[in-house]
Amino acid sequence: MPSLSSAIWVVAAASAVLAAPHVSRQEMQDILDAAPVPGMSNYYSDYRLKAAPYPGNITDAILNTTAGEPGPDDLLFQNLLAAEWAIFSFYQQGVEDFNTSSFTSLGLPNTTYDRIVEIRDNEAGHLAIFQSQITTNSIKPGACKYAFGATSPERFLLTLTLLEISSMAFLTGLTMQADLNITKGALTAIAETESRHNTWALMDIWHVNPFAGPMDTSFPYANQILDSTNSFIVPGSCPQANPLYPYPRQGLPQFTYNPNYNSSLNSGQPIEYVWETPAPEWKDGACYYAVFYHELDVVSMPFDTTTNTTTIPDFDLNKGLIVGVIADTPGAPTLESVVAGPVLLIQQPAGAIKLASTSTTGQ
Ligand SMILES: *[C@@H]1O[C@H](CO)[C@@H](O)[C@H](O)[C@H]1NC(C)=O
Ligand SMILES: *[C@@H]1O[C@H](CO)[C@@H](O)[C@H](O)[C@H]1NC(C)=O
Ligand SMILES: *[C@@H]1O[C@H](CO)[C@@H](O)[C@H](O)[C@H]1NC(C)=O
Ligand SMILES: *[C@@H]1O[C@H](CO)[C@@H](O)[C@H](O)[C@H]1NC(C)=O
Ligand SMILES: *[C@@H]1O[C@H](CO)[C@@H](O)[C@H](O)[C@H]1NC(C)=O
Ligand SMILES: *[C@@H]1O[C@H](CO)[C@@H](O)[C@H](O)[C@H]1NC(C)=O
Ligand SMILES: *[C@@H]1O[C@H](CO)[C@@H](O)[C@H](O)[C@H]1NC(C)=O
Repeated sequence: MPSLSSAIWVVAAASAVLAAPHVSRQEMQDILDAAPVPGMSNYYSDYRLKAAPYPGNITDAILNTTAGEPGPDDLLFQNLLAAEWAIFSFYQQGVEDFNTSSFTSLGLPNTTYDRIVEIRDNEAGHLAIFQSQITTNSIKPGACKYAFGATSPERFLLTLTLLEISSMAFLTGLTMQADLNITKGALTAIAETESRHNTWALMDIWHVNPFAGPMDTSFPYANQILDSTNSFIVPGSCPQANPLYPYPRQGLPQFTYNPNYNSSLNSGQPIEYVWETPAPEWKDGACYYAVFYHELDVVSMPFDTTTNTTTIPDFDLNKGLIVGVIADTPGAPTLESVVAGPVLLIQQPAGAIKLASTSTTGQ
């Protein structure tokens, strides 16, 4: 996610690469019939081997077995499943690369590695849940190869925290897209699980007060956050049968922020954006707005396209998450009004921001 906090999203050579065994249609059906069912089996919490748990051990796309109209939320779950493959693969790589002493040697609790294994299992459960929500009329996307650059335990923990809070944010947007009521409930329940993961990290790893005011941040344009996860994907590594991800995909210009300009991300402070891809073609004489989302508030500030600076609005607490986009209309009222972004400004833990900017120099 280039815009999360650029430093840690830099694609490094070392990557999370899962084996991609090929499975016939009949074998797939047999596996599905025998598969542990989320909510009915402890498997998605208690599996403790380093090898990828089901269905993370079967990385092919699963082809549709029937023809016809896609289910009302098939597209939503295809997008979500493709995102989940990235998240699952991140945890799976961490489980393979680290062990208990990787974290106790940092002075962290001796439960840290085991919690990461359990989160990996929960994420495998998410894969199974999202696959089950896509009808047989639609393809279930498979895993690509991903490069997170989370090669040290410290960077792994930082990326973990950022992935969990960004998942919480894009799930709010997907909920707004959902057609079926049951989907809305399911997405809320998944977001709650990510919030539990994040809360654990804030308390046990970062030793901060885990609360962030009366609500987390709701962001309407989920696919824009999903699109930024494309930067983790090793180009050309996705199964050929995978649909375009995310769909629809705007492919907007991406930016991050300059942590050295003012790294506080606090209310009322200036912030400088830094282009990671070519900037939009600014229209002569047009006004552009830096639009910030925090909790349920949407606040527009003037954006200076020559200095690339703006000011963070006067939000509460300086905790939680602010999502920033650049729009050609105040309040970014439509998807099309967004011309660049999003950037995820994670205010909590403050130390993570500092660590992220430190790792820039170590890159
Ligand atoms: C994946 O894991 C499931 C459950 O343990 C197992 O039945 C299946 O054979 C595994 N498949 C592959 C390809 O490893
Ligand atoms: C899968 O979906 C495509 C597109 O709708 C369709 O052409 C194809 O026949 C489907 N495959 C099967 C096995 O039904
Ligand atoms: C944990 O990993 C470290 C570094 O790879 C290794 O030296 C150590 O032996 C491992 N410890 C255990 C208990 O496997
Ligand atoms: C883990 O740490 C707790 C307290 O910090 C300690 O009581 C326990 O013995 C430790 N467990 C292991 C396996 O080292
Ligand atoms: C979804 O919930 C609303 C509000 O309760 C209800 O009016 C609607 O019929 C429900 N839709 C479906 C598909 O059940
Ligand atoms: C950045 O923020 C700090 C603390 O909030 C403030 O004192 C400082 O003036 C700001 N720096 C710039 C360049 O505006
Ligand atoms: C701001 O972004 C523009 C591209 O829109 C770039 O040409 C310019 O150099 C940037 N300004 C600064 C001060 O970095």
